[in-house]
Amino acid sequence: MKEVKVGIIGFGTVGSGVAECLLKNGDVIAKRSGIKLVLARIADLDIEKDRGVKIPENVLTKDTKQLIKDVDVVVELIGGTTLAKDLILEALRLGKPVVTANKALLAEKGEELFAAAEKSEADIYYEASVAGGIPIIKALREGLVGNRIEKIYGIMNGTCNYILTRMERENVDFALVLKDAQALGYAEAEPSLDIDGWDTAHKAAILASLAYGEWFGVKPIHVQGIRNISLADLRYADELGYRIKLLAVIKQIDGDVQIRVHPTLIPKKAMLAGISEVFNGVMVVGDTVGGTLFYGRGAGRQATASAVVADLVDVALNLKFGSHRRVPAFRIGPQFKNLIPMEEVESRYYLRLQVQDKPGVVAKIAGILGERKISISSIVQKEGQSEDNVSLLILSHLALEKSVSSAISEIEKMTEIRDKVKLIRIEDI
Ligand code: NDP
Ligand code: HSE
Repeated sequence: MKEVKVGIIGFGTVGSGVAECLLKNGDVIAKRSGIKLVLARIADLDIEKDRGVKIPENVLTKDTKQLIKDVDVVVELIGGTTLAKDLILEALRLGKPVVTANKALLAEKGEELFAAAEKSEADIYYEASVAGGIPIIKALREGLVGNRIEKIYGIMNGTCNYILTRMERENVDFALVLKDAQALGYAEAEPSLDIDGWDTAHKAAILASLAYGEWFGVKPIHVQGIRNISLADLRYADELGYRIKLLAVIKQIDGDVQIRVHPTLIPKKAMLAGISEVFNGVMVVGDTVGGTLFYGRGAGRQATASAVVADLVDVALNLKFGSHRRVPAFRIGPQFKNLIPMEEVESRYYLRLQVQDKPGVVAKIAGILGERKISISSIVQKEGQSEDNVSLLILSHLALEKSVSSAISEIEKMTEIRDKVKLIRIEDI
């Protein structure tokens, strides 16, 4: 049976999960693929620490450079965008295929890495970089290759989904739930990556790039996190028939593409709205297949390891049959016309205004919206609050982002307005 020597760099959460999976399920993987994946080397800064997996002798090392020389395939699991990049480039330079889960690196340096892979003719696989254990990269690269991608909606950050779920269900404040998420190990070491939307943006950049054939990076993405989502907004959304999710929205409209990440009201009856706790969900709509939905654990040692091991089997099969690059790492060649800037995006909006409860206020606001062709689909003023400061909820029909921004600036100048206007976009999924 063909043997393929695997070297893992980074023996942390995911690295230890991959080692455990290879040792535990090596037999079944061999039966399915006809290949023996041999856990040949694991490199880490600390090779004494107990990681909860019994590793065979002479496998652990601190020497990453030697590891790359010794193995057939390199698994990069240290994270970060500097050393991780150098290690991957070194492996590719030596013609060694690479498997990585590093979404930040791919989103920021994807172009360089894939160019290096192209040059070396070595594979680079990255299933675990988006939505943990959900095989969404394989779906886009292979399963849906015959489609023009119309839309991708993704709940792709477990930490944010966990926080929003608990806030909504238990009426607990953001700060308190964030502490729990950190204690449970869901949040990245630097939590702003999660809660300010950057982790989702990295994943959105990878999916959008795969779908449309150009490395977008995160720069053109409008990114907004969940720090400002209040219990009041969650409650009002619920009363109006919606749930608030941190959503990646990737859309192609008449050949133009938009990519954005922000808290979003989605109808409670939508399947994505049912994705709660740390789970992830990605909906892909293709012109031929229609709607598809992928659901599962977006993070964690074992779920992420499952995706890494699937990549290892693909890479090993490619090595066995001498068919590297059988599936292109990335489909170069733009499959879209223009990238739509955020101000030109059309969306529906939830606006919460804190206003004085007196005659003429609603008329003034409606006037400002009307002048900018923003049509109201629903308006509710909540009773039982102080007359000096009541919540006025407005849901709009489709409107241009720049018109809504301009309306908000005008509304905030009104003397009857008590606070900044809260804006949350709506997607009728
Ligand atoms: P961890 O921090 O748990 O593990 C990283 C490991 O790499 C640590 O043991 C670290 O050692 C080690 N390391 C750091 N620098 C070096 C180095 N120079 N040489 C050798 N070892 C080094 O991270 P995760 O396992 O959580 O994440 C790994 C990657 O997977 C990241 O890119 C992450 O974004 C991605 N990912 C993670 C998911 C998850 O659920 N955790 C889900 C999907 C993707 P030390 O601790 O001593 O610094
Ligand atoms: N911190 C990320 C999350 C890990 O919460 O989803 C997986 O990418």
